[in-house]
Amino acid sequence: MGFKKSILVINGPNLNRLGKREPGIYGAKTLDDLQLELERTASELSFHLSFYQSNSEGDIIDRIHESPGKFEGIVLNAGAYTHYSYAIRDAIASVDVPVIEVHISNVHAREEFRRESVIAPVTIGQISGFGFASYKLALQVFSQEV
Ligand code: DQA
Repeated sequence: MGFKKSILVINGPNLNRLGKREPGIYGAKTLDDLQLELERTASELSFHLSFYQSNSEGDIIDRIHESPGKFEGIVLNAGAYTHYSYAIRDAIASVDVPVIEVHISNVHAREEFRRESVIAPVTIGQISGFGFASYKLALQVFSQEV
């Protein structure tokens, strides 16, 4: 059966700690739970999903560089790199694959430093504050023509 799109979900630093990490902010569910839930959403949308997590800036950049021709979209939670990684920003700008920035927490309702995203200007949009639903909403966006 042909997939409508292949989507790459990238989770950056500390997101492997989901479930243990500040559960009052990020919830009790784990990264494996997130993967399972997104695989379900992807199959409902007839998407093929690749799921990747890394704590390393360079590894995230390499995945972005390798995405053209393999993926029609990227859902990116860059974690704290969101706020200061010009290198990830430039990697996104270097490819023609649309990227949606997602966050589990509402970054605009937290510390001042989280309000700035250096990657937002090179993404097609940002979804922040809806828990795991932020990622599912991003998949829904890719099911539209973007
Ligand atoms: C986060 C928000 C970031 O500010 C933080 O550094 C994270 C997670 C989120 O999903 O809410 O690691 O991206």
